[in-house]
Amino acid sequence: MCRLDERERIEGITAFVDELVVGIINSGIYWTQHPRVETSVRELARMVNEHCDGTDEPSLSLTIIDRCIVHQGRALLGASLSAPKLMKPLGELKAGGFEFDHGVDASDFTLLLQLLTDRRRRPESREDANAALAASGCGKIRLLGRMVGAVGPTTPVATITPEGDRLRAGTTLDVPQQVYQGLVDSLQTTMMQVCCGDSLELGAVGSMVQEVLTTLDDDPKAILNLSRYENYDAYTFGHSIRVCILALNFARNFTSDEETLERIGVASLMHDVGKAKLPFELLHSTEVLSAEERTEMQKHTIHGGEILLEQTECDPLAVTVAFGHHRTEDGRGYPRTTVPLPLSTLTRIVKICDVYEALTAVRPYKQAMSPTRSYKLMLSMDGHFHRPLLRRFIELNGIFPNGSRVRLSTGETARVESQTDAPALPIVTVESTPDGDALDEADLRTVDLRRPPDDRSITVADELLAAPAAATASA
Ligand SMILES: [Fe+2]
Ligand SMILES: [Fe+2]
Repeated sequence: MCRLDERERIEGITAFVDELVVGIINSGIYWTQHPRVETSVRELARMVNEHCDGTDEPSLSLTIIDRCIVHQGRALLGASLSAPKLMKPLGELKAGGFEFDHGVDASDFTLLLQLLTDRRRRPESREDANAALAASGCGKIRLLGRMVGAVGPTTPVATITPEGDRLRAGTTLDVPQQVYQGLVDSLQTTMMQVCCGDSLELGAVGSMVQEVLTTLDDDPKAILNLSRYENYDAYTFGHSIRVCILALNFARNFTSDEETLERIGVASLMHDVGKAKLPFELLHSTEVLSAEERTEMQKHTIHGGEILLEQTECDPLAVTVAFGHHRTEDGRGYPRTTVPLPLSTLTRIVKICDVYEALTAVRPYKQAMSPTRSYKLMLSMDGHFHRPLLRRFIELNGIFPNGSRVRLSTGETARVESQTDAPALPIVTVESTPDGDALDEADLRTVDLRRPPDDRSITVADELLAAPAAATASA
């Protein structure tokens, strides 16, 4: 009997793909017995076995089609955000996916990661790779052949979100999804460059930010909705990307100067870059941190400032943000300085987006806080934020931000599509009946709550929150 429901299954696969990418990155940097690599391979084996036990599937098969991770004929949007990182090593072996059998163990994954990352001993083809795996005693992992096709709302392959929602016909998430993938890719590369002591390719990060800006201009709803899927990844990347998107969307109201916006995007994306210098175990700890661990964690601001200062094309704005985003308006917070250090406007913006994202995001150890409660909490934090900027942020982000899910006074559930001049009455898409039955794509309807049909008064009764992610490590 299947123990995992649809949503748990999708979350599990998303976490597995994230972990596989982390394992490949770490395996390329560290030796096989390094704690980071050992943690990854143990987790990967546990996740496959948990998936098989919970679904009664004898194996977990994942293929990559059209930059999407596909499982049992369905493209998984959340997991697909990491797809480009898997495409490269698979492509070099002319393979298109993986199959992991129930009973796979950590040593099998060690062999797989070595095979994918050791350039000197990399086989020529998928067949050679499978033969090498089998010869090493790893019979529970196989590389699958390439599959061709296109994944999207116009193809028979259903695209579903980590929340188990089927995307609506006509929804075009391809471009924002690729932009989001590009951001994940940029950030992973940057973190790896920090770990290896290489100089950062901030020009490439800037180009990625330009693409975010274009997407925000063309289809702001799509990328903002995408940034609401809290379970996309359990690592620092997701947090930094969401802070970047929030900051850019906010800053667009103050300036349209492209160069300024690009600098804002890069600085906000890099605000936690100093975390790359922190011990893995500390970053991924799910326990309450001790006083010493907290002090160590707080050093990411100093590390971040130093990392960015060392770059030949260092942007002073990015340095001030990385260094100052945990300092408060009234001079508290960290790191401490011997002279007063007023916050730059960009640091103030990133600080607001940083805290808002952390409060509203789901973490393995906590529920997401609703936007309304988060706003209230932030407004109650005296001396913390620049008040006029915080009020403007709330105004522009909306009481019920785009992408959030709500219950209407009719009992139906809906997703917020866009804001109106009445902050409590957004435009929504109704997605279920009052009894909670999901509507078919053809029955989904968009309602402007200022002018509901038949002159009925419909209001937002409740905000629906995402549950904590599967118990995986998180930053
Ligand atoms: Fe931070
Ligand atoms: Fe942060």
